[in-house]
Amino acid sequence: MANWKKIGVVVVVGAGAWLWRTFDTSRSDVADDTMPLSQVKITDAAAIKRGEYVMRQADCVACHTAGQGDFAGGYVIGTPFGDLISSNITPDEETGIGRMTESDFFNAVRQGIGEHGLLYPAMPYTAYVQMSDKDMHDL
Ligand code: HEC
Repeated sequence: MANWKKIGVVVVVGAGAWLWRTFDTSRSDVADDTMPLSQVKITDAAAIKRGEYVMRQADCVACHTAGQGDFAGGYVIGTPFGDLISSNITPDEETGIGRMTESDFFNAVRQGIGEHGLLYPAMPYTAYVQMSDKDMHDL
């Protein structure tokens, strides 16, 4: 009798995992998971232009600059429990996100999984969760 319960639990957990994987649009199977962003050479001019368009729509630069529009972060968001500081998202390996792969970048922007764990929702990843793979790639 007890075995049926165990089997039931396994089936329910398995089905749940499958549904999660199927309907979780934020994960990507196309994003590159091998090359650090600092090494990526982008030559497709149309993709660069599209990426800038996506960036302006999503207004990444509003937060990820302290005023120079340079993506170097440092913008301070004051909250009742302390200041939150936006990250440097330049491709620099030391100070930016140059060590992240494209796949890491997708996970940070769409799921809030940053280099040091879960990001504060001051980074509005819930607003980006439905961004397409193409938009993310060009971005
Ligand atoms: C409303 C302000 C805001 C906007 C808009 C915003 N971000 Fe962020 N972002 C943040 C903050 C604040 C953090 C740091 C959160 C933390 O440290 O927990 C962050 C963190 C990140 C990280 C993680 C960096 C790391 O080292 O883990 C990435 C990548 C990122 N943002 C990319 C983007 C991109 C790309 C966009 C546009 C699509 C964007 N952000 C728009 C505020 C913002």
